[in-house]
Amino acid sequence: MLKGKRIILGISGGIAAYKSVYLLRLLIKAGCEVQVVITPNGKEFITPVTLSSLSGKPVISEFFTANTGEWHSHVDLGLWADAMVIAPATASTIAKMANGVADNMLITTYLSAKAPVFIAPAMDLDMMRHPSTVRNIELLKSYGNHIIDAATGELASHLSGKGRMREPEEIVGELEKFFASGDKLKDKKILITAGPTHEPIDPVRYIGNYSTGKMGYALAEEAARRGAQVTLISGPVSLTANNPAIEVIKVTTAREMLNAAQQSFPEADYAIMAAAVADYAPQNFSDCKIKREKNGIENIPLIKNPDIAMTLGLHKGEDQKVIGFALETDHEFQHAVDKMKRKGLDAIVLNSLRDPGAGFATDTNKITIIFADGHSLEFPLKSKAEVAADILDSVCDCE
Ligand code: CTP
Repeated sequence: MLKGKRIILGISGGIAAYKSVYLLRLLIKAGCEVQVVITPNGKEFITPVTLSSLSGKPVISEFFTANTGEWHSHVDLGLWADAMVIAPATASTIAKMANGVADNMLITTYLSAKAPVFIAPAMDLDMMRHPSTVRNIELLKSYGNHIIDAATGELASHLSGKGRMREPEEIVGELEKFFASGDKLKDKKILITAGPTHEPIDPVRYIGNYSTGKMGYALAEEAARRGAQVTLISGPVSLTANNPAIEVIKVTTAREMLNAAQQSFPEADYAIMAAAVADYAPQNFSDCKIKREKNGIENIPLIKNPDIAMTLGLHKGEDQKVIGFALETDHEFQHAVDKMKRKGLDAIVLNSLRDPGAGFATDTNKITIIFADGHSLEFPLKSKAEVAADILDSVCDCE
């Protein structure tokens, strides 16, 4: 599964760096091409000679090779890799990564990396539970990085607690799991709606909502990474899709979103309705700006927008699945179940605005997935990238 994968192994300065030698050996044995990038402190724990002998490549630590002036391009490295693994990630390296303090080659490479990043923290228990470390790890998660959580056990300080870097075999296992999911949705077509809709009142005003589209875009990226062909029907947002397997159709209003969805749906295996569609639109659009002084803005006649999820849900074929979202503030579970039934959905992803970190404009979400047969799965607070993976794992039948 890892054969031929190009991995950047980032090593920072902690005692667990000795385990990185075993990790490097396992990666090489699995057929990976590995470029080691080590921090200046990391070199105090293991020598570049050990690492370059095992990887078959010179180890990179400085921005330049002093005697030749050769520049090591972190940008090229960031583009070269299929994955970056930072093990061990010390409290200091984690803090720099979380805050963009680009003062060594490992951090500049991390900041330039386009590939998924796996971070294996290792530090003493007090550093591990310090609020700044906890916050920095949360920040890294919210950027979509994968945290390979530290284990509990005996630490270098001879104290016992959480802070041990996970064993090299476990880190390799995480990478294998990740790459194994890469073609899980091969040959599948997925339609995703994302973002808000804007319903124009006049040339300067509209009815809309706070949706940023982050959940829908995260779903599109994760589905594309798993090999699906994705049609992302997006309301007005400031996000862009990175994966070329995502076809983005930009729309403004609910009607436009419905038309685009109806066009793509016949081809789709799954439709995931993550958009926050405006429920109403002004009955008439005024070509001229409505003047405040002349009244007319207090009472704008509204009409109900079409329900896109319901339109697809009630007309889906036997092999198609439609998955909706429900953002609720009260009686959450019951409202979500009612919505799922009313709209003919196969599953509904519930998030409650009462949960801190859930809902619009955050990088995190806390969801419960409810299925048409009544069973449900509850997940803890996670980054939207991880939530996207949980949703696809749960709702898509794939081997
Ligand atoms: N939805 C849709 N078209 C609409 C309204 C909602 O496709 N016009 C979809 C959303 O994308 C979501 C699900 O239906 O997947 C539930 O959306 P929500 O706004 O929670 O439901 P509403 O039916 O609008 O119910 P209410 O606002 O009364 O809670």
